[in-house]
Amino acid sequence: MSTAREYQFTRRDFDYLRRVSNQHTGIVVTDDKFDMFYSRLARRVRALGLKSFADYCDYLEAPTNAGEITELVNAVTTNLTSFFRENHHFEFLAKKALPEAVARNRATRKLRIWSAGCSTGEEPYSVAMVLAEQEAMLRGWDVQLLATDIDSNVLAQAAAGVYPVSRLDGLPASRLKQFFQKGKGTQQGKARVREELRRKIQFDQLNLMQPLDIERQDIVFCRNVIIYFDKPTKTMLMNRFADVLADDGYLIIGHSESLYQVTDRFELIGQTVYRKKR
Ligand SMILES: C[S@@+](CC[C@H](N)C(=O)[O-])C[C@H]1O[C@@H](n2cnc3c(N)ncnc32)[C@H](O)[C@@H]1O
Repeated sequence: MSTAREYQFTRRDFDYLRRVSNQHTGIVVTDDKFDMFYSRLARRVRALGLKSFADYCDYLEAPTNAGEITELVNAVTTNLTSFFRENHHFEFLAKKALPEAVARNRATRKLRIWSAGCSTGEEPYSVAMVLAEQEAMLRGWDVQLLATDIDSNVLAQAAAGVYPVSRLDGLPASRLKQFFQKGKGTQQGKARVREELRRKIQFDQLNLMQPLDIERQDIVFCRNVIIYFDKPTKTMLMNRFADVLADDGYLIIGHSESLYQVTDRFELIGQTVYRKKR
């Protein structure tokens, strides 16, 4: 059975588009993503008033249309996330990583945490909630929580901090009350992260394929991002994280990810939790 498509989409178009997106993002697009590419990018072909995917490839080639790369990247990223996803990482943060960093940084009273590949913001807001709950430990500290992603759409959603209430299902009542508000200009069925929590996070667009101009970090969350990269790209990025992290700083990755045979600059100390070696 053949499915009629609105636009012609050939294997050649697919190969071109996945090559361009790979060059920009590091994401390896496998053969089974053919249909996904079609459905996500047909919108762009339509919006630009083009006749086919071949035209779209030509359009991307023109230097004057370089901005379209952002649209391509936004269309091909996978942004699945949730609040307190893999909750054991947040327990580790509260019980071990944070007290250790506080002890280590007594003299400077500075704490730096980075959510790299933050998607729509659930991960950095979860970190911010843990920090707020550990406020006594951090009183008078200079705390910076950086949240970055390559995808400008998800980043805008993250910065707005507005979520359908269904996304907050697993959160206990105490966190809902302390950190979210409904009503007051928020649409029906949506909740907004309270301003006090939102302003604790700096949201920036950042492509992890480019050299990192980032200050020394105590803890880096980069979860469910490298899963889409090939091994040399993983090695390059993990070594850059090692350069950015403080000695004994922590790198936290996703449940199906591993640094085994990727880099030896970290030691595994818990479930997908790595400590930078001195
Ligand atoms: C599946 S989400 C993970 C979200 C969150 N870290 C979590 O684990 O729930 C992966 C995110 O990585 C981002 N990403 C992919 N390639 C990237 C790159 N080269 N630079 C920065 N972010 C990238 C995607 O845009 C996407 O939002």
